[in-house]
Amino acid sequence: MTDIKAQLDVLPGLDPRAPLLQVNDLHVEFRTRDGVAKAVNGASFWLNPGETLAILGESGCGKSVTAQAIMGILETPPGHITRGEIRYRGVDLLKVREAERRRVRANRVAMIFQDALSALNPVYTVGFQLAELFRVHRGASRADAKSRAIELLDQVRIPAAKSRINDYPHQFSGGMRQRVMIAMALALDPEVLIADEPTTALDVTVQAQIMGLLAELQRQRNMGLILITHDMGVVADVADRISVMYAGRIVEEAPVYDIYARPAHPYTRALLESIPRLDLKGQQLTAIRGLPPALTAIPAGCAFHPRCGYAKEPCRQDPAPPAYAVAPRRTARCHFFREVLGE
Ligand SMILES: Nc1ncnc2c1ncn2[C@@H]1O[C@H](COP(=O)(O)OP(=O)(O)OP(=O)(O)O)[C@@H](O)[C@H]1O
Ligand code: SF4
Ligand SMILES: [Mg+2]
Repeated sequence: MTDIKAQLDVLPGLDPRAPLLQVNDLHVEFRTRDGVAKAVNGASFWLNPGETLAILGESGCGKSVTAQAIMGILETPPGHITRGEIRYRGVDLLKVREAERRRVRANRVAMIFQDALSALNPVYTVGFQLAELFRVHRGASRADAKSRAIELLDQVRIPAAKSRINDYPHQFSGGMRQRVMIAMALALDPEVLIADEPTTALDVTVQAQIMGLLAELQRQRNMGLILITHDMGVVADVADRISVMYAGRIVEEAPVYDIYARPAHPYTRALLESIPRLDLKGQQLTAIRGLPPALTAIPAGCAFHPRCGYAKEPCRQDPAPPAYAVAPRRTARCHFFREVLGE
């Protein structure tokens, strides 16, 4: 259980009653030789304690860049946050000093990456890397840090944790390495965990085990979990809400059940039609026609219009569709969401 006092010491002004994380109108640009790539183009979403939010979208739509912006690890240059807010417990992280940002990153908001091997240091044992976190950030003694490291490896179900702490990252299988990454991210008891495609490099059975573990740890610790994925099949069982991202914007946001039962945005609908569903035997899988736009040339109006079967004249004109309220806690950036819902 998180100690509220320790939490508030990390950064002045934190308000325990404010939403855990709130991203408002985030814009991130990459200035490249080919022009300005608008990787994140006005993304907004929020996360409450104990909640799992899935951010879903095709490759290149800005999911990882959004995560990097939240963590304060965006490569600048070429990346620049040009507008928006990232509020953690009410405090805009874009306005705090780098030292404070680092404290938040070390203690309160953690991230796990797709590629565990490159995220772990190859020249130190797993036990040393874990223990070091407790020694540096919690002032633990060598012996105490070691026993906490073993305890954590146990929690992420690494068999024979006591002896495995002496192994190097390359001595673990892909799935076990991902468990070590999860242990590292959880070591300092974060309130927010961002998991960026944590299972895409793994085979299906291991994927399911890791997702199950993440969901269990999230419940036990009442963490807010942001699960980033391009695979709609992965999130159905674990997410509470889904934010669907397209060309750097959240185009639909809804509780998970509503998204699957009645998508309100044509893009969400197309994503759903492109995955196999056990409840629809014998169905045809349809790939989404066309390609996502180049981020240096995002179409005017609704960015999805060149690929959308519902598109009409207003869709091609600026401004882009606003986030229409579809229902309480549900929005869709589509002028014709009622038609999509069949209303
Ligand atoms: N270092 C960089 N330099 C230039 N452009 C970048 C850089 N990193 C990201 N981008 C741009 O930002 C866009 C969004 O990238 P991002 O990594 O967020 O996509 P993603 O949604 O995470 O995709 P994937 O599912 O493949 O991981 C990319 O298409 C690219 O145009
Ligand atoms: S606004 Fe128009 S183009 Fe965009 S998703 Fe809706 S119907 Fe399609
Ligand atoms: Mg990514």
